[in-house]
Amino acid sequence: MTNAVILGCGYVGRSLAPRWRQTMTVTATTTTLERLVELQTLADYAVVVKGNDLAAMRSLLHNQQVLLVSVGAPNPNAYEETYLHTAKTLVAALQESPSVQQVIYTSSYSVYGDRGGDWVDETTPVKPINLKAEILAETEQVLLGAAHDSLKVCVLRLGGIYGAGRELVKIFGRAAGSVRPGTGEEASNWIHIDDLVGVIAFAQQHHLSGIYNLVGTVPLTTKELLDRVFTMHHLPLATWDASQPSSRSYNARVSNQKLRDAGYKFIYPETQETL
Ligand SMILES: NC(=O)c1ccc[n+]([C@@H]2O[C@H](COP(=O)([O-])OP(=O)(O)OC[C@H]3O[C@@H](n4cnc5c(N)ncnc54)[C@H](OP(=O)(O)O)[C@@H]3O)[C@@H](O)[C@H]2O)c1
Repeated sequence: MTNAVILGCGYVGRSLAPRWRQTMTVTATTTTLERLVELQTLADYAVVVKGNDLAAMRSLLHNQQVLLVSVGAPNPNAYEETYLHTAKTLVAALQESPSVQQVIYTSSYSVYGDRGGDWVDETTPVKPINLKAEILAETEQVLLGAAHDSLKVCVLRLGGIYGAGRELVKIFGRAAGSVRPGTGEEASNWIHIDDLVGVIAFAQQHHLSGIYNLVGTVPLTTKELLDRVFTMHHLPLATWDASQPSSRSYNARVSNQKLRDAGYKFIYPETQETL
């Protein structure tokens, strides 16, 4: 039986664990003792691990073949510790963990920065526009740098995550009936949690390595998306004030063609509320 670790088992990890358990023995981690009981019901094993604890990381990786890194910063000030320190500690631990064959990391499309609405793909250089995105881009490089002949590293650049428990109406509902700054014509890139789970499982099964964008196929504009969500939920539409600058800082149309070329078939190619 293959052994797999979910390092940072929050929304993504919780959604993935049942799928991975169909074929693998899964260990899930948290930083908080209080979450252990919950994780014990989700995974075969649950442990408390902080990403900067080298000894704990070594022990976690012992006899494991697959690792998902899905840590998420609890606040903007914790980005460096959560992502970069975890990645560096992990790379050090991997040097003494020859059993590990694949690392999959959930990054973000925010590393592309503001592209004025142009299409970007995995060959587009990163252009972080703030410290958070810089840290995410550096984390990718640290992890990708650990790859070698018998260790594949796969970076997934995610759009905003939505789906069961994170419905679009929960994310955008407060904007119903409001006046929004800008035109709403910027691209918005989202990924449904079912496709996120599907792609992580696909990446593991097909031993993917390198960078893959993970967003839906059709990037709606923010206005189109909000109109759809509010119409579906019978809420008043937002209106747009073009005289004010947009609050969206990442305007890029992100292509998922590379993933589709690899053979993944999206369940939700277009962003749509699923209730
Ligand atoms: N949400 C989005 O729309 C979105 C978009 C793009 C990319 N992503 C990326 O997707 C990933 C997973 O997102 P999510 O929504 O599943 O996050 P989440 O629900 O916030 O879960 C994050 C997990 O990381 C753990 N963690 C936090 N700091 C840690 C540290 N220093 N060391 C080890 N573990 C740590 C947390 O531990 P506790 O159990 O103790 O809380 C939790 O289990 C993140 O990397 C995020 O950046 C998310």
